[in-house]
Amino acid sequence: MTQTLTLRRPDDWHLHLRDGAMLKAVLPETARHFERAIIMPNLVPPVVTSTDAAEYRARILAACPPEFDYFKPLMTLYLTEDTDPNDVAHAAELGLISAVKLYPAGATTNSSSGVRDFDKVRPVLEKMAEVGVPLCCHGEVTDHDIDIFDREAVFIDRVLTPIRDAIPDLRVVMEHVTTKNAVDYVRENQNNLGATITTHHLIINRNHMLVGGIKPHYYCLPVAKREEHRLALVEAATSGDARFFLGTDSAPHTDPNKLQSCGCAGCFTATNTMSCLAEVFETAGKLDRLEAFTSLNGPAFYGVEPNEATITLTKGNPVQYPEKLATGEGPVTIFDPGFPLHWRVS
Ligand code: NCD
Ligand code: ZN
Repeated sequence: MTQTLTLRRPDDWHLHLRDGAMLKAVLPETARHFERAIIMPNLVPPVVTSTDAAEYRARILAACPPEFDYFKPLMTLYLTEDTDPNDVAHAAELGLISAVKLYPAGATTNSSSGVRDFDKVRPVLEKMAEVGVPLCCHGEVTDHDIDIFDREAVFIDRVLTPIRDAIPDLRVVMEHVTTKNAVDYVRENQNNLGATITTHHLIINRNHMLVGGIKPHYYCLPVAKREEHRLALVEAATSGDARFFLGTDSAPHTDPNKLQSCGCAGCFTATNTMSCLAEVFETAGKLDRLEAFTSLNGPAFYGVEPNEATITLTKGNPVQYPEKLATGEGPVTIFDPGFPLHWRVS
């Protein structure tokens, strides 16, 4: 008997689409299965003002093939120390943005315009709390004395807790959580707090990246942690707890940019995310919770309705994906989960 699974059409609450030729190539990979996506603003230069966001949104819509005309990019602004609180409020009023993104300066790809002094952005955060715009946090400190594997846990103590104590009405998303510490923090703090979890962090731990030769395509930020942390993420994602939802952090880089002496961080999972997740949830014995994670919890946090449309996954012989996606900038390697995928989106 064929096994099928029908879900409300999923949304991706953390996605990198880039721009130009890369945008054109990667957008269909997401829009094929997803109806909405929170679009990360870390372009070069970043999407900082409401005007930048309006223009980027127009470029995304122009790049979207007509068969995916349902796809809605949900825009974000890149928080800088010069961000004008009134511009954020204006963009929110227009319905142009769904969130503001905080990158501690230097934390990850294209984050040099990020925040160094958190006191400087306090008026913006206060305005966001007032008008109900969530803050999406890249939750890693950048202090040189903090080990890269500890940077998320230290961010919670040094940055996140003080911000949330100072502005309790601010709604915060801890993006791409990678540690048990972050999962526990979300569980212990009821108010105005959610977390996204990526596809790849549910699948790989740091051994997958480092044992038997370095695997550049598994290098992303935050970097994958120990197995106990991966297990905590799987537990949270499959628990049905509405504060955890999918943000793939699919982050395309061309092979030449990944495979060099200083390779870029990012895993490209847009193409096979739903197949990967179905496998993860099935292995955990929680296939019935997949819809909450991909299609219900995110809309609930962002205060929007789940999508009306549905997608159906069918289980069968292993799905064959191409190894790479061709783009106008060069090939992008598609995430390899390291195990066969039996669920396909029909
Ligand atoms: C992202 C990118 O490439 O833009 N890379 C990544 O490893 N996740 C940036 C980010 O979200 O940290
Ligand atoms: Zn990201």
